[in-house]
Amino acid sequence: MLESYTLKLPKAVYAGKGAMSKLEGVLKEAGATKVALFTDKSIYELGLADGAVEIIKSLGLGVEVCSDLAIEPTYAEVQKTVDWFCESGCDFILAIGGGSVMDASKLVSVLATSEYSVHDLLGDPSLARKQVKTVMVPTTAGTGAEATPNAIVAVPEDELKVGIVSDEMVADVVILEADMIKNLPRSIAAATGLDALCHAIECFTSNKANPMSDTFALEALDLILNNIERACDDPEAMDAKRAMQLASFYAGIAITASGTTAVHALSYPLGGRFHVAHGVSNAILLMPVMHYNEPACRELFAKAYDRCMPGDAATVEEKSAALLERMDEIVKHLDMPENLAALGVEDVDIDSLVASGMEVTRLLVNNMREVTPEAAKAIYEQII
Ligand SMILES: NC(=O)c1ccc[n+]([C@@H]2O[C@H](COP(=O)([O-])OP(=O)(O)OC[C@H]3O[C@@H](n4cnc5c(N)ncnc54)[C@H](O)[C@@H]3O)[C@@H](O)[C@H]2O)c1
Ligand SMILES: [Zn+2]
Repeated sequence: MLESYTLKLPKAVYAGKGAMSKLEGVLKEAGATKVALFTDKSIYELGLADGAVEIIKSLGLGVEVCSDLAIEPTYAEVQKTVDWFCESGCDFILAIGGGSVMDASKLVSVLATSEYSVHDLLGDPSLARKQVKTVMVPTTAGTGAEATPNAIVAVPEDELKVGIVSDEMVADVVILEADMIKNLPRSIAAATGLDALCHAIECFTSNKANPMSDTFALEALDLILNNIERACDDPEAMDAKRAMQLASFYAGIAITASGTTAVHALSYPLGGRFHVAHGVSNAILLMPVMHYNEPACRELFAKAYDRCMPGDAATVEEKSAALLERMDEIVKHLDMPENLAALGVEDVDIDSLVASGMEVTRLLVNNMREVTPEAAKAIYEQII
């Protein structure tokens, strides 16, 4: 547990009924004249950006829609989006999308300058200075990227995904609009919801955990453990979907105040080299890592059980086991792949996965039980 801690948050968060309509006031207050609306192809084709475009036009402002942002972008793809923005004449950024769109948009907000490139930020994120104000509207629930100072990019030459972290990238405004996640396909709702579950439990059991991150991590965990299946299974269950939207935002705040651990660290090579979707690789790694961590995290798992799913378990051991069983039940229920075989990963890849995973020291240092190369190898072996 950290002894001193800081929490830097967006200046305003609008949630609940009619949240998207708040965009009008946000744009007026910011004095925006031409808005860059970032989204991806699927989201644009689903019409999820239409309402925002209407609001912008009704104010008489200019708008340029960039609707082809890459999914889980490489840093070079992000640089292309930066170049597009610099040519566009826009002075405000509105991101409508999942973590991929939000991360790229957050990077553009600090990269709209000729002083440094995205590649420079990989080496030294402290160079980042906010150039353009941002509004984040998440369409998954989710990464929590709307809350965090992080942006994750793939670095193909290192076969890794790398987190660029700077307080300058924290969104100015967040809009949690339930309509955005209403029709999320089940597989996407499941993978992104499990990512939020990982954020919550990892941040709660992180060496960087502290009273502020615990508050948000436990509330997120409670909401997720009690809503995720219904949110994914029942198209009409808007209460459960809203709970997941809040949970993913809270889990993002937990990341900001604490940090994720070995699930995310070992997941990055799977995204970077094999292009396994972020939520899917985390879902596959979640239980092997939780079982590995159990001896070091038992008391905390028991505390989470008491907070989120109080029942008949009496001892710390029983409570910890019950929490892990519940998480396992969720992963299985949501039909996540049980291993990496179908995703093109083979035994011969393990050594290079271990080597890449061990490079993610930023997150491995947060893990309460030390992850040695031998331990990482044993974890990967379980999921091949
Ligand atoms: N910045 C952070 O703090 C943070 C935290 C976790 C993950 N990430 C990063 O975020 C990325 C993953 O983001 P994600 O999991 O939100 O998914 P995503 O943004 O990559 O989107 C996944 C798929 O879902 C589709 N989609 C999104 N919203 C939809 C909707 N409402 N309806 C239908 N389809 C929709 C997209 O078009 C895409 O095909 C990864 O690069 C990951 O590393 C960032
Ligand atoms: Zn994540």
